Amino acid sequence: MSVSRRRRDYWDGVYADSREETVSWFQTNPEPSLAMIDAAGADTDSSVIDIGGGASRVVDHLIGRGFHDLSVLDVSGRALERARMRLGRAARSVSWITADVTGWKPHRRYDIWHDRAAFHFLTEQADRLAYFACVKAAIARGGHVILATFAEDGPLSCSGLPVMRYSPEALSGQLGLGFELRAFQSDMHETPGGARQSFQFSLFQRVRD
Ligand SMILES: C[S@@+](CC[C@H](N)C(=O)[O-])C[C@H]1O[C@@H](n2cnc3c(N)ncnc32)[C@H](O)[C@@H]1O
Repeated sequence: MSVSRRRRDYWDGVYADSREETVSWFQTNPEPSLAMIDAAGADTDSSVIDIGGGASRVVDHLIGRGFHDLSVLDVSGRALERARMRLGRAARSVSWITADVTGWKPHRRYDIWHDRAAFHFLTEQADRLAYFACVKAAIARGGHVILATFAEDGPLSCSGLPVMRYSPEALSGQLGLGFELRAFQSDMHETPGGARQSFQFSLFQRVRD
C-alpha cells in the first residue's frame, strides 16, 4: 500500500473513532491562527488554503468574517466531511480538497497558506521537500505561509504518530532564502483532556521566486 493510502486510512480511522471536540488538537476558537492571518495583512478578498485543515474551525471563522476564497485540504475525506456537515450551506462556498499534501499539485496560487499541526507529521526529508515544492507552487512572491507546529519543548508524538518539533529559525532554514520570517507567536494549547502542548506559530512571506 502506498504511503498516501496508509495516511488516508490512518486519519480516516482517527476521525471515525473520535468526536470532533475530543481530539487533542481541538480548538473552539483558533485564535493564534486568526492572529497570524491578520498579521499577514489579509482582507476578505485574500485567498486562504488550510493545509491539513481536517475538521478545524478556522474555515468557519473566516467565512464568518466574510472571506470568500477559501480552500481546505486534508488527506482524510472523513475529516472534511465532518467540517462540511457542521457548516451546512456555508460549506458550498469552500473548495474541499482530499489529498496528501506531499503528492498534491496546486492548480492555482493562494495569498495565504495556513498549516496547523499537519507539517510536523512529516518525519521523512523526502516528504518535507515535496511539501515545500508544493508551497512554492502555491504561493507567489508577496504571499504568506503560516506554519504552526509543536515547538522545541512540545510533545514528541500526536495521535499515536511521531512528530518533528520546530523553532521559527529551523523552519526558516527549511523554507530557504526566498521566504522571510515576518512574525512569530508561542502558544500553549490546552487539549480537551487538560494536557498542555507547546506550539509555535511562524509567519513567512515569500520575497523571491
Ligand atoms: C493534528 S490534526 C490538525 C487538524 C487541524 N489543522 C487543526 O488544527 O485542527 C492533523 C491533520 O493533518 C491531516 N494530515 C496529516 N498528514 C497529512 C498529509 N500528508 N496531507 C494532508 N493532510 C494531512 C490529518 O488528516 C489531520 O486532519
